[in-house]
Amino acid sequence: MGKTTKRPTSRIRPDLPEGVLSQREALEKLDRMTEQARAGGGADRVEKQHQSGKLTARERIDLLCDDGSFEEIDAFVQHNVHEYGLQEKKYLGDGVVTGVGKVYGRPVYVFAQDFTVFGGSLGERYGQKIVKIMDQAAKNGCPIIGFNDSGGARIQEGVASLGAYADIFLRNTLSSGVIPQISAIMGPCAGGAVYSPAITDFVFMVEGSSHMFVTGPQVIKSVTHEEISMDGLGGASVHGEISGVSHFTHDSEPESIAAIKKLLSFLPQNNLEPPPFIEPDDDPNREDERLDRIIPDHPEKPYNMLDVIETIVDDGDFFEVHKNYAQNLIVGFARLGGHSVGIVAQQPAVLAGCLDINSSLKGARFVRFCDAFNIPLVTFEDVPGFLPGVNQEHGGIIKHGAKLLYAYCEATVPKLCVITRKAYGGAYCVMSSKHIRSDVNYAWPTAEIAVMGAEGAVNILYGKEIAAAKDPDTRRQLVADYRERFSNPYDAAARGYIDAVIRPRETRKKLIRALEVTRHKRDTNPPRKHGNIPL
Ligand code: HXC
Repeated sequence: MGKTTKRPTSRIRPDLPEGVLSQREALEKLDRMTEQARAGGGADRVEKQHQSGKLTARERIDLLCDDGSFEEIDAFVQHNVHEYGLQEKKYLGDGVVTGVGKVYGRPVYVFAQDFTVFGGSLGERYGQKIVKIMDQAAKNGCPIIGFNDSGGARIQEGVASLGAYADIFLRNTLSSGVIPQISAIMGPCAGGAVYSPAITDFVFMVEGSSHMFVTGPQVIKSVTHEEISMDGLGGASVHGEISGVSHFTHDSEPESIAAIKKLLSFLPQNNLEPPPFIEPDDDPNREDERLDRIIPDHPEKPYNMLDVIETIVDDGDFFEVHKNYAQNLIVGFARLGGHSVGIVAQQPAVLAGCLDINSSLKGARFVRFCDAFNIPLVTFEDVPGFLPGVNQEHGGIIKHGAKLLYAYCEATVPKLCVITRKAYGGAYCVMSSKHIRSDVNYAWPTAEIAVMGAEGAVNILYGKEIAAAKDPDTRRQLVADYRERFSNPYDAAARGYIDAVIRPRETRKKLIRALEVTRHKRDTNPPRKHGNIPL
């Protein structure tokens, strides 16, 4: 149980007035209180935390921050509750560790909920601690990382804890697009508490120990009679693969924290800074002839777009975001010539690379993040179109696909695009086309840029003729003619919609040069309160 420090009963220095501590006593008191604050909920609860496979709040911070860099703030804050027995239970720090540290030498603000104190539950003072560092992070232009491990609103504090949550949600929203906000879910995160991570830019979860849900399994059972486990309802895999709430899933907390550090290495400190430059070892002029053979000769055969990306970016190092969600679209960070870029690419090996509801949402959010934080966008396009289907239409592919279109249209960061193979229909327009302010558009000679594929086009244009034709070769010939006329990059190149048709092996150096040229690009959107993205 947490105790507040008691005044010494017998005086060491009788020459001092009563109540005054000598300097040594004052230092000892500080040491005792610091030790008490560091102890959290005590050794037994720390042991229980470890037994459940979780690190403590302070261990998480130690893994995140450069050695010795973390400066704690508000270590002696206590709750102000005088009922429900809480007046007897006080812990220095009140169940959340807050402060500022460094990651790879750059300052970051951190809060870590301490499950060993009242189950990490959030009350008024605890909330004020988080709000204080959120305000400092926004004012000083530093990223903020929150470790979430909490039973939610501190029940004994009633509406004060709800108010504290709302104070946090407001700041999450006001800091959105100003400083990077990262949420690590490392225990329970339930009820309205999920909405802080949900507003932040990236959510990390750990297999087995992280859970997020608005209503838990018991409430669901009583209301809808559905039975489900915590993992099945809101575990890391569920949110990483099905709901898309989480962007990163790892098997352990140390792996998750290492990934947070890597993510930060691609990001600027705030929206007014460029992302960090890291001197590349990889030759910017490197050509790779494997790219000249990567597209299968048969247009319906898939290939792995990750191979394309990894062959082109610095050191083959691609940091994929949302890896297990909507895998028909790939998004993530890499470097080209040492500069951070955000990559958006179709994955022809999944759903033939079609755009559907989930991939549109995934892409739109990523594009908007990059645009907010001055990270140039590089698009690798091989898209046969939007995914056909009743589910897609009834699910609102119109409004969800519009989000991706809107995100690309409004983005003013440098936008580069490489069409590797298909660019059909509306999806051609959406994926960083010249018409929506893309800066540099390349196509490989294997590109097919048209309203639709040859088979579908011929059916629509010549349906009656094909049905009436006696010669079975009629259709084949029409398809071949259409392919020759439209399924190539040259019609688009003839109109200037493609800046150049390039050899695949040269793609890396072409992109790096295009980035050099566009780095200081200036472009703006009309002044307005805010646009009205089709939510
Ligand atoms: C106060 C809480 C608490 C809470 C846990 N504790 N949650 N105290 N308020 N919300 C305390 C427990 O009483 C216990 O104290 C200690 O933390 C550890 O909890 P255990 O239950 O022993 O741990 P465990 O078995 O691991 O279960 C963890 C848990 C469970 C799944 C999180 O505690 C739980 O279901 N808690 C309630 C969750 C909840 O319904 N919260 C409100 C959600 S609504 P002792 O002293 O006994 O060890 C919400 C709204 C937010 O949060 C709204 C924002 C707008």
